[in-house]
Amino acid sequence: MVSLVTFAALLASVSQSYAQTAITVKVASTLQQIDGFGVSQAFGRAAEFRDMLSGDPQRQGLDYLFNTTTGAGLTIIRNRIGSGTTADDSILPKSPGGPTAAANYSFDDNDRGQVWFSQQAMAYGVKTIYADAWSAPGFMKTNNNENNGGYLCGTPGHSCSSGDWRQAYADFLVQYVTQLGFLNEPDYVTSYSSMQSGANEAASFIPILHDTLEKNGFGNVSLTCCDAMGWNSQRTITQGLVSAGMEQYLKYITSHMYTGDPNSVISTKLKTWQTEAADLQSRWCATWYGSGGQCEGMTWASKIHNGLANANLSAYIYWQGVEVNQFQASSYLVASDGKTLTPSGRLWAFAMWSRFVRPGAFRVSTTGSVSSTGITAFKNTDGSVVVVFLNSGGSQQSVKVSFTDFTPAAAEAFVTDNTRSVASVTSTLAGGAVTVSVPSRGMLTVKLTA
Ligand SMILES: *[C@@H]1O[C@H](CO)[C@@H](O)[C@H](O)[C@H]1NC(C)=O
Ligand SMILES: *[C@@H]1O[C@H](CO)[C@@H](O)[C@H](O)[C@H]1NC(C)=O
Ligand SMILES: *[C@@H]1O[C@H](CO)[C@@H](O)[C@H](O)[C@H]1NC(C)=O
Ligand SMILES: *[C@@H]1O[C@H](CO)[C@@H](O)[C@H](O)[C@H]1NC(C)=O
Repeated sequence: MVSLVTFAALLASVSQSYAQTAITVKVASTLQQIDGFGVSQAFGRAAEFRDMLSGDPQRQGLDYLFNTTTGAGLTIIRNRIGSGTTADDSILPKSPGGPTAAANYSFDDNDRGQVWFSQQAMAYGVKTIYADAWSAPGFMKTNNNENNGGYLCGTPGHSCSSGDWRQAYADFLVQYVTQLGFLNEPDYVTSYSSMQSGANEAASFIPILHDTLEKNGFGNVSLTCCDAMGWNSQRTITQGLVSAGMEQYLKYITSHMYTGDPNSVISTKLKTWQTEAADLQSRWCATWYGSGGQCEGMTWASKIHNGLANANLSAYIYWQGVEVNQFQASSYLVASDGKTLTPSGRLWAFAMWSRFVRPGAFRVSTTGSVSSTGITAFKNTDGSVVVVFLNSGGSQQSVKVSFTDFTPAAAEAFVTDNTRSVASVTSTLAGGAVTVSVPSRGMLTVKLTA
């Protein structure tokens, strides 16, 4: 006799394995361009990575972050421009005496390990190094301290007896090249490097910084603003910057996610980046999926998906990459006890995009939907097409993917779930369409080549 329960379970398993949905990727219908995915090793974490790990463990840590075969294949690093009072934390630790006095910049060629970390990343092909100042040096600010907020002297409403330091701060920043940011969390005052700014203060400084870069032959450096604490705060600042005509000087709008995840488009013609994200609540956890907690890989996969699919993001950067003996936190992707390395589910969440969706790719649109499943699709500069599925539901989904303006000749598929991390799985390519099985509470990425 077949019990009712068994019969229901049988029915569920039948419908599970046969439910198939169809979607179409419109390869010529391009959306935002993707610049990449990354991490920072700021505040001395780069030096710890270099000095507390050596040989194979150090290589493995770098591979987890940057290798496109065994790791996440990250393509952006975010370095801190130091503003402290010692020679290892600033190129100008002491005031030269006044804003127009000659500044004796002195770089220690170490930058708390960030020189080493940048070189290692570049050896893996990383080209995007985002240098961001958390604060101006203390002597350039209203509170005469690099910490605890304070405003840049000379910005509207913030005069100082020592003078207007805006040009001097621009000269200081020009010492750093590539993507350049001059603010970090300007809407938050804290006991470490911090400086306040709203749109008005930023708008009184951005043209000076832009002109200073041009005069020094660094017109090719991309300016960003403003790394606010959360998406809505950055939206408000961006509206002010757009009305003040600042878009002509900037290349990227940058935001963190601590007081609000990127979940809708910020109105600007500039690219938008999420530049610092982390779980600041949990102890170290490597879990892919458990209870939906803050530290879990699936949680971060959802955040990245949401940013790409709904907030027009061109980049997503986690706070830190590799940390040694910091098991009280999950604000980084790979843990080490000094000898062995443990990747987290968060690292694999990044890998499901970053390893396959390379800098310069464009997101492309899709039609059709799959139950409980988020879909993002991309066209790489080499012509390959990548489709990333994120299934938050409890049943596996079989999906047939067709294409317009593209004929796939080969497909490779990879899954991540509680038992697999970017593991190769089979897919079926027939008649110009590929059929894949997206695991429950997991991801599948399929890469197609013509
Ligand atoms: C400039 O700074 C360097 C390094 O701190 C120091 O050795 C040198 O004497 C300074 N030069 C001047 C002119 O102050
Ligand atoms: C990535 O890892 C593979 C496999 O271990 C290795 O052969 C390759 O050299 C690594 N790539 C880089 C750039 O180090
Ligand atoms: C910008 O141009 C300068 C001077 O030609 C060069 O040294 C620097 O590497 C360039 N920077 C970028 C980000 O291309
Ligand atoms: C998305 O960002 C790009 C810049 O990267 C911009 O041109 C485009 O208008 C934005 N799309 C939407 C829907 O706002």
